[in-house]
Amino acid sequence: MTSSRRVLLRTHGCQMNVHDSEKIVNLLRHDGWQATDALDAADLLIVNTCSIRDKAEHRLYSDLGALRAWKQASPGRLLGVGGCVAQQQGDNLLRRFPQVDFVFGTHNLRWVPTMIEAASRGTRAALTCESSGSERFDLPDRHPHLEPATPGRAFVTVMEGCDLFCSFCIVPLTRGREASRPAAAILHEAAGLAARGVREITLLGQTVNAYGRHDLRRGGVEGTLGFAALLAQLDAIPGLERIRYTSPHPSFFDDALIRAHAELPALCPHVHLPLQSGSDAVLGRMRRRYRADEYRRLVERLREARPDLALTTDLIVGFPGETDRDFEATLALVREVRFVDAYTFKYSPRPGTAAARAPDPLPAAVLEERLEALQQLLRELTLAAHRARVGDTTVVLVEGQSRRGGHQGMGRDPYHRVVNFPVTGESDPGPGELLALRIVEATPHSLIGERLPSVRGALGALTGVPGHADERSWGSVSGP
Ligand code: SAH
Ligand code: SF4
Ligand code: F3S
Repeated sequence: MTSSRRVLLRTHGCQMNVHDSEKIVNLLRHDGWQATDALDAADLLIVNTCSIRDKAEHRLYSDLGALRAWKQASPGRLLGVGGCVAQQQGDNLLRRFPQVDFVFGTHNLRWVPTMIEAASRGTRAALTCESSGSERFDLPDRHPHLEPATPGRAFVTVMEGCDLFCSFCIVPLTRGREASRPAAAILHEAAGLAARGVREITLLGQTVNAYGRHDLRRGGVEGTLGFAALLAQLDAIPGLERIRYTSPHPSFFDDALIRAHAELPALCPHVHLPLQSGSDAVLGRMRRRYRADEYRRLVERLREARPDLALTTDLIVGFPGETDRDFEATLALVREVRFVDAYTFKYSPRPGTAAARAPDPLPAAVLEERLEALQQLLRELTLAAHRARVGDTTVVLVEGQSRRGGHQGMGRDPYHRVVNFPVTGESDPGPGELLALRIVEATPHSLIGERLPSVRGALGALTGVPGHADERSWGSVSGP
């Protein structure tokens, strides 16, 4: 294989898929491939798919139709399909789309280079076998020339799969059973990232805070820890300033994890805590394993540990049988918790899930109306949360140019909010660096900050935030 071959990854779905695409590019980098953003320049296109809602799956089918011309335009081009639709459809994709050369499931990333070799010799194949152990996590270390997707930040997989089978959700069928990655491998990866200048890691798992629970029940044979113990070890890695995790499930917050939010300096004061519905009747039929009151109590306990905690969530409207009263209970709980933001979805029946057989689907117009009402409420809450921050000092991890254009940069603060700031010239901080700001304006989607002389000054001004007095290394912190 020559080093001039170029691969393009097209990624749909959640952060797990974004990270899987990075892992695939890393594998291919080790095999001599270069990554490209341009379809015309690509010798290989891999579509990494999502099947969480009907729309995502159908978009794939129309994309694949359009790619027939791309394949025909230059002989030797290859087309692969991976991810959650691939896991479910396997061979069907090869049969239905002759332009597809290979299909790989969510547990089969490490076979991609082999499948490419076979495809370039004319052998089409689909591989979707599930692995029950942790060998799927055994992938090569990051290639020295692999560009980070976002400078200074990285994802780290800690567990995969889901054993909860919420009645609406396809994920247990596409990602298989829960498996946790040995702690030593996670710590090795995180330390390596920190040594390369990564300041912030996001731990990934379908129910990330269930990390290790099966292995611990078996006596820790796989080398995992409790999730809070893992966080504590990561927190001790020099140079790693920020730790996030997504998505936790409300059922797996033990005392130790709540305490971690009070005690670990690097653990960010933001939790994405999927709620789905505020009605006990709906939560029961969704098989979410908590009632609204238990969710409320968890929020209280998290806020006792970390008073400035920012909460975001996922919500579904129009679950089968959801009444006006059920929906009002969702609105009321959303208002009560004061989420800073949320992902909101119209319920979409997924074949093979329990809820897809439910008797009372709601009319599309009701879903539309409820989604709009919920989004209206969230717009109010986001703006109120942003306005409450005006005058605060904060520290952002710089990502790059602001989407607002002009001479503005953007970064994310510890609460995961986007903060835009003016760029002035030579002394501007580069992507991946920390920058101290004072928040001067709130907009519906972001905050606007002005630059402060130093990160240390900003930290001193933050009150009630544990850890900011500690002596972390602020080596490449930028101030004007
Ligand atoms: N593991 C996470 C969620 C992963 S899926 C958790 O347990 O919360 C991401 C989000 O997609 C879910 O939180 C849910 O809000 C939404 N979602 C999943 N299945 C859906 C469906 N069938 N219809 C609409 N939204 C869905
Ligand atoms: Fe899906 Fe529920 Fe598992 Fe989340 S916990 S991935 S919503 S089945
Ligand atoms: Fe989609 Fe699979 Fe993620 S279904 S949301 S890509 S786990």
